[in-house]
Amino acid sequence: MSKHRGELAIQASGLIKTFGKTRAVRGIDLEVPAGTVYGVLGPNGAGKTTAVRMLATLLRPDGGEATVFGHDIVREADAVRGKVSLTGQYASIDEDLTGTENLVLLGRLLGHRKPGARRRAAELLEAFGLTEAADRQVKNYSGGMRRRIDIAASIIKTPDLLFLDEPTTGLDPRSRNQVWDIVRIIVAQGTTVLLTTQYLDEADQLASRIAVIDQGRVIADGTPGELKSSVGAGSVHVRLRDAAQRPEAERVLARTLGTDVTLEPEPVALTARISGEESGSGAAEQASRALHELAAAGITVDDFSLGQPSLDEVFLALTDHTANPTEKEVAA
Ligand SMILES: Nc1ncnc2c1ncn2[C@@H]1O[C@H](COP(=O)(O)OP(=O)(O)OP(=O)(O)O)[C@@H](O)[C@H]1O
Ligand SMILES: [Mg+2]
Repeated sequence: MSKHRGELAIQASGLIKTFGKTRAVRGIDLEVPAGTVYGVLGPNGAGKTTAVRMLATLLRPDGGEATVFGHDIVREADAVRGKVSLTGQYASIDEDLTGTENLVLLGRLLGHRKPGARRRAAELLEAFGLTEAADRQVKNYSGGMRRRIDIAASIIKTPDLLFLDEPTTGLDPRSRNQVWDIVRIIVAQGTTVLLTTQYLDEADQLASRIAVIDQGRVIADGTPGELKSSVGAGSVHVRLRDAAQRPEAERVLARTLGTDVTLEPEPVALTARISGEESGSGAAEQASRALHELAAAGITVDDFSLGQPSLDEVFLALTDHTANPTEKEVAA
C-alpha cells in the first residue's frame, strides 16, 4: 500500500530546458498521482530524458517549476533526492564485480550492515531471476540481465518514486516481459513509477495514465483508453492472401471508410481507421461494409479484425507523423 495514496508524486508546470539552440523541453506540465505507473511516451529526441533528469534534480530547469511529493526540485533538491531513484544514474554498476558484489556494495553505501546488505542483495537477485547469475561478473551478463540488475540496484532502498528511463529499449520480447513483471511488483509495493518509453504497447500495458510528448511538449494526456477513444472508433486490420492486391485493397478501403489507410511493414497487411464522426453508423457495420467491398473487388482476405485504435495510431493522429519513422521517412 502506498503511504502517499491520494497525493501527487509529481506536479510540474511549465518546465523548460534549453541546450544552446536546442529547446529540449519547452514547457511541460505533469501531474502524477502517487502509487501509479505514469507513462511518458515519445519518439527519439522528444525530451523525455531531459524532463526526467530535471525532475530527479540532476539538471536545473531554465524555467517553470515542479515538486516531488511536495518538495520543490530546485529549492528542496536534497529532500527530493531522498525520495527518488533513477535507474542507470544513481546506481552505478561496476562491470568487473559480480551481481551479488555490486548489490552488497551499494547496500553498504546506503548504510546497511553487511548481513542486511547480503540479505537484500539475495532477495533482489531472486526476485529478478538473477540468482543463477549472482556470482558472475556483470560484464558477462546479457542485455536483459544487465537491465534487470540496473533496476535491482536502483531499488535496494525502496524509493517513493522511481524513474525508469526506457527500461526495455533493445530488449527481446521475453526480457521485456520480465522487466514489465518487475515494474508491476515495484508498484504493488507502493513505489510510484515514472516510465519513459518509445513503445506504445509498453505504456498501454503498464501505465494508468500517459503523457504523449513530442518536440519538448505534452501533446496529449489521459488514460490509455481516453487517448485511444479521442482518436476514433477503432480500426480495421486486414491481411491479404496476395501482396500484389494491396494497392487495390488500399483504394477500396480508403473509398469505403473515407479515412487514411496505413500500409503495414508486412507487405500483405493494411490498417484503416474508422472515423469518430462516422461511428454513428457503427464501427462493426462499417467494417463489415469494407469487407464486403473488398470481396466484391475480387480481393482475397486471409484475416480481418476490428480493433480499438493502437497507441501508435493515436500518435499518428496527434502528431501527423509516426512515432517510429519508416525506412522511407528516415531516408527522405
Ligand atoms: N546535454 C545535452 N546537450 C545538448 N543537447 C542535448 C543534451 N541533452 C539532450 N539534448 C537534446 O535535447 C533534445 C531532447 O533530448 P532527450 O535526450 O531529452 O530526448 P529523449 O526523448 O530522451 O530521446 P530518446 O528516446 O532518444 O532517449 C534532443 O534534441 C537532444 O539532442
Ligand atoms: Mg532518452
